[in-house]
Amino acid sequence: MFIKNELEIYQKNRPKSKELWQKALKVLPGGISHSIRTFGLDLIGSFPLFINSANGPYLRDIDANEYIDCWNGHFAMILGHNPPEIQKTLKEYIEHGWHFGTNTEYQVELAKAIIKGNLGIEKMRFCVSGTEATMYASRLARAYTERRLIAKAKLGWHGANDTLYYNVGSLKNDQTSPGLLNSEKAGILTFEINNDRTFDLIKKNKNNLAAIILEPILGGGGGFPVEIEFLKRLREETEKNDILLIFDEIITGYRFSNTLIQNKLNIIPDLTTMGKIIGGGMPIGAIGGREDIIERSSPQKEKQVLIGGGTFSGYPLSMIAGLKTLEILNTSQKEYNRINSEGEKLLKNLNQFFNEEKLPLLAMGYKSIIMLHVLSKWIEKPSINEIIENSDNKRQALLQLALFNRNVSGLHGLGSLSMAHNHDHIMQIQNVVEQIAHPVSQSQFD
Ligand SMILES: Cc1ncc(COP(=O)(O)O)c(C=O)c1O
Repeated sequence: MFIKNELEIYQKNRPKSKELWQKALKVLPGGISHSIRTFGLDLIGSFPLFINSANGPYLRDIDANEYIDCWNGHFAMILGHNPPEIQKTLKEYIEHGWHFGTNTEYQVELAKAIIKGNLGIEKMRFCVSGTEATMYASRLARAYTERRLIAKAKLGWHGANDTLYYNVGSLKNDQTSPGLLNSEKAGILTFEINNDRTFDLIKKNKNNLAAIILEPILGGGGGFPVEIEFLKRLREETEKNDILLIFDEIITGYRFSNTLIQNKLNIIPDLTTMGKIIGGGMPIGAIGGREDIIERSSPQKEKQVLIGGGTFSGYPLSMIAGLKTLEILNTSQKEYNRINSEGEKLLKNLNQFFNEEKLPLLAMGYKSIIMLHVLSKWIEKPSINEIIENSDNKRQALLQLALFNRNVSGLHGLGSLSMAHNHDHIMQIQNVVEQIAHPVSQSQFD
């Protein structure tokens, strides 16, 4: 009954999205331009939303429904949507043209700001997306070490490039995506975070391992924090064996304070990939790190490693929006503290509620990152593997739909808090999740 009612309410309130979805299916495979943007709703016979405006904590769809948004543009919009200062800056600059295909002072300024604020970023290179950044970082590592293998964390999402699209959440049981070499041929090994066996894998492959890449918190993987001791040991072992350590900070960079998380952890990798927040909501990716490695991409080098094509690399509007965002974040420590602690409380409160009620739901994340997992059964303190093995995609989709029906938008359950969320918004998010947790977990699909 809950499923039927929720589907009916969703569809009744979104006639324009429904109509547009039919048109979209005719011109876009699956009706979308990013595979997660169905929000899984197609799995339960529904269509996704179409959004046409956003402001502060809110998204508005083409049927004029408004949502407290936790997806925040794939984690990029830490200031909330359409922050007036960024909008004003972009308007001022756009008058002068927006794509020159040349060098600009803005890219120098943004690089200077990032290098100044972070240990371990001696030099950097901009590209257009995080997908490119992780691909280039892997290429640099292979060239620098003259070794073939890259080890990535199981579930770690580094974009869908041919190098690293292995063992991510959407590929079950180590499947390989059609069109890609199998992982062995592609030179990819996978390891589990927070697991001692990872160090055996390193030992066994140390002479052929170019790099280890991981996020300090697996974002797309489901909000799983990596233990600091594990990260420290990875740093020690990689250093000892001349293996490069790459942190993918595309989500974690500037998420918890106005720096990369590597500064706070005091674990400095050889290379770092960045994106999302540093572009202020404009397309961006970047690779930074040790000068002797990054310099290999310079055209002045005899054996240059190509890590930078890209018609839109260093895109002026991305550089400008990024600069302004970092400038604001530099004076936002109070706001960081607020969303970090509100996020911690939300995680704790939701898990307490799920546990007391023995509901097969779980909130995972760290500080302002909050993801919800719907499992097929209640498990006390499940391991990451148990969470993944028991994830219930249809009920997860129902959760997203029920959230939309109650004017909360999110993905992977929720996503993250932004500085535009106030305490009332966060309480509303908590109340809505608690309201739907029972019926979502009790719903049966045929
Ligand atoms: C940790 C991480 N790395 C890489 C990427 C890929 O970045 P982009 O989507 O900008 O290509 C993402 C995107 O979600 C990400 O979360």
